Amino acid sequence: MPFGTVTLNDGNKMPTIAFGTGSKWKGHDVTAYVEQAIELGFSHIDTAQFYRTERFVGDAIRESGLDRSDLFITTKYSGIGTAQQAINKSLANLGLKQVDLYLIHSPRIVPPGTWQKLERIQESGLAKSIGVSNYTLDLLQALVKDSKVVPAVNQILFHPYNYEENKELLEWSAKHGIVTEAYSSLAPITRFPGGPVDKPVNAAAKRLGATPTQVILTWVRSKGVVIVTTSSRKDHMQEYLDVAELPSLTDEEIAAIDEAGAKGVSKSVLITRFLPNTPTWLWIRTVALFSINLALVYAIAYPLYVLYNSLA
Ligand SMILES: NC(=O)c1ccc[n+]([C@@H]2O[C@H](COP(=O)([O-])OP(=O)(O)OC[C@H]3O[C@@H](n4cnc5c(N)ncnc54)[C@H](OP(=O)(O)O)[C@@H]3O)[C@@H](O)[C@H]2O)c1
Repeated sequence: MPFGTVTLNDGNKMPTIAFGTGSKWKGHDVTAYVEQAIELGFSHIDTAQFYRTERFVGDAIRESGLDRSDLFITTKYSGIGTAQQAINKSLANLGLKQVDLYLIHSPRIVPPGTWQKLERIQESGLAKSIGVSNYTLDLLQALVKDSKVVPAVNQILFHPYNYEENKELLEWSAKHGIVTEAYSSLAPITRFPGGPVDKPVNAAAKRLGATPTQVILTWVRSKGVVIVTTSSRKDHMQEYLDVAELPSLTDEEIAAIDEAGAKGVSKSVLITRFLPNTPTWLWIRTVALFSINLALVYAIAYPLYVLYNSLA
């Protein structure tokens, strides 16, 4: 049984796993990866104005030969130009007349009044559903209070280590018919390996004959949250899709992951994991370490040199 769909508060149906073209893909030609993902069974593709991957997603859609109705396309307004200009450009990039879901990428990067612009975009038929991303509980409550349309979706950073802080947001969203989508859920593997979550995740993986990745994605599903993930590897894409076949985690396993996540990762792990691993950063870190060591050697050697000279 493949991943199913969730019915949004406007009646539209959204597939519960999406293949993302942001994160490591920004500015890259993702055509082959999106094609591969669609071939394996992903029908929901996530992109954004900011990612500069929309035109490659468009190429992959055309290459797939699938009917438009077989695919669910999400893109986001990232605050570049007006929302109306942005949706026109996104649709041109994607080669589509309508996106299935149009999100405000982040409340911090769009001008006030953007939600009302998205309402108009939905009315004009350029987006079937509209929603937001990276909204905290306060911001979402304020938006809902002042708006005609309740967002269909809130796409947020969500993994076992930030579940505790997002619990209220998840509960409130569910109560108000807002579907939560999770990005970067594999953080316990990709960013914080060796943290407290590993133990219960590995134990559940052993019981289910599954991988830790699959256990984390199953845990996301257990929270009623839609998965937005990505991969450059066919085996990983298949591994994600196979999650649909796995039995649920037990209440005890879910509680053990929640509890371990609430302990958090140590500060030193956090700092090093958040520093990008790009050659530029590694170079800056090397130069900084070299300078600190040089300063230390100087601080020790210079007084000794002065002392030696005064004695000589
Ligand atoms: N709304 C927003 O602000 C926002 C922010 C960030 C992301 N997103 C969306 O969410 C999508 C997914 O984000 P994400 O990449 O952070 O998601 P993720 O699902 O946490 O991570 C996916 C990454 O995990 C790697 N991975 C998979 N299995 C692994 C393993 N066993 N060991 C080590 N690495 C492994 C994959 O690399 P391989 O290629 O090696 O498989 C891939 O790069 C983005 O593309 C974007 O569409 C949205």
